[in-house]
Amino acid sequence: MAGQISEEYRGQEVFLIGVLKGAVVFLADLMRFLTVPVEIDFMAVSSYGKSTVTSGVVRILKDLETSIENRNVIIVEDIVDTGLTLSYLMDNLETRKPASLKICTLLDKVECRQVEVTPDYRGFIIPDKFVVGYGLDCAEKYRNIADVCVLHR
Ligand code: IMP
Repeated sequence: MAGQISEEYRGQEVFLIGVLKGAVVFLADLMRFLTVPVEIDFMAVSSYGKSTVTSGVVRILKDLETSIENRNVIIVEDIVDTGLTLSYLMDNLETRKPASLKICTLLDKVECRQVEVTPDYRGFIIPDKFVVGYGLDCAEKYRNIADVCVLHR
């Protein structure tokens, strides 16, 4: 994915927005393989709280520290599930007039989609299982597991 992004943005700069907290590990790995100049910032949005079922409510808990006007923005997500979070984020960031706005996600549960969201860069399509590790959590636990694992309950 980093190769593809570096190729597509050759001669330009990219502004990566990591969606806290799950995307931290992926963003850290991804950016080390980008060969174009990179700036990063983070946003935090409410999603599932301590539950594993989406509430459908998205709220900004932490916003960007800088303007993204005329920047090539790539939202870096850990996983797209219903698409509600990214749909909200895309609408919100679009109003800030970036030069371009794309989505890069490590994982995609395509069969769970409730609103139309199509990642521009996607690592893996996965089935409808709750996964943890590599930054992903369940009630803030398991983020430190090195691999992506299915949580069995
Ligand atoms: P969406 O709004 O339903 O697309 O959900 C996106 C967010 O929900 C992700 O950024 C994750 O924080 C969380 N999420 C969705 N599925 C999983 C999962 O299987 N494991 C951990 N977090 C998940």
